[in-house]
Amino acid sequence: MAEFRFLHEEAKALLHRTSFALAADGVTAETLHLHDQRIPRALITELGDVTSVPQSDSGYCVLKGILSDFTEAPGPTPSSWDTADPGQTRELDVAFALIAGVTGRVFGWRSQQDGRLVHDIVPSKGFENMQVGASSAVKLEWHTEDSYHPDRPELLLLACVRNPDGVGTDVASVRRARLSDEDAALLSTDPVLLYPDDSYAGSWSGDGGDSARMLTLWETADGLCMRFDPPYTKLPDDRPDLRAAWERLGEALDSCATTVRAEPGDVVVVNNDVAAHARRPFTARYDGTDRWLKRILARGPWQRLESERDEPGYAQVQVGPYPSLHPGR
Ligand SMILES: [Fe+2]
Repeated sequence: MAEFRFLHEEAKALLHRTSFALAADGVTAETLHLHDQRIPRALITELGDVTSVPQSDSGYCVLKGILSDFTEAPGPTPSSWDTADPGQTRELDVAFALIAGVTGRVFGWRSQQDGRLVHDIVPSKGFENMQVGASSAVKLEWHTEDSYHPDRPELLLLACVRNPDGVGTDVASVRRARLSDEDAALLSTDPVLLYPDDSYAGSWSGDGGDSARMLTLWETADGLCMRFDPPYTKLPDDRPDLRAAWERLGEALDSCATTVRAEPGDVVVVNNDVAAHARRPFTARYDGTDRWLKRILARGPWQRLESERDEPGYAQVQVGPYPSLHPGR
């Protein structure tokens, strides 16, 4: 299926009406799953068609303009996730949660953004040079989301509220990366240690008792999958061959990357087991006009190694996952 997908105008109007009616009755993104009977079946069906898990080799798709009716006047970009007023974008958040809820089982992390389901990704003062979503001045390096955890999302959804400077999100699929058979074999058999990124700071200590047990690559019936987060990886000191292969994977992703310049109303859906993502650096203004994304994480069909099920995941606790709005997902 094409990487750009469109919801037809009638369905967009139905999404608009439904989300406004639910929000007017006090329904939020968090409580939406309790009100699934109020969501028209026709809307679920239409959304189901455009949001089918991107199993293509590209590992992503863009739901072009699907939320454009909600991003015309979103108000100023908040200065940080914790100063964002949920009331400011309630209808948008409900509509985004509805789309995400059709893709799979949505969830949050208790120790990330206060356990919220819809995350605000905005540049924040003091975070400019960090490897977290609130950074701006540095390239946010290649990563698959929440790589450190066995229950990380299969799907990552990013909704663009505002992106006046056209800041690019890079996406690169492991299925398009030119890796030698030797490197693929090494990265599929020899583990590394992944640990939580700085957005979880304070919620775990040391290495959590974990060890280098995470495999970077694995094969599924649909193709190769990946778990990769270089800034938050510890490689065994005595394995220069593994390090070299792992670095060549990063270079191979560079070589096959696509840049998505999301516009207001676009939703980018990434298959988090197939594609890594990164963000280009930009200069934040902190004047209410900066780039503003919303993020929702979703679980999909399990396509991971059985050995992952025993990982402790640094004792991180999920909020949800909530039941999917789409039968069978
Ligand atoms: Fe990310």
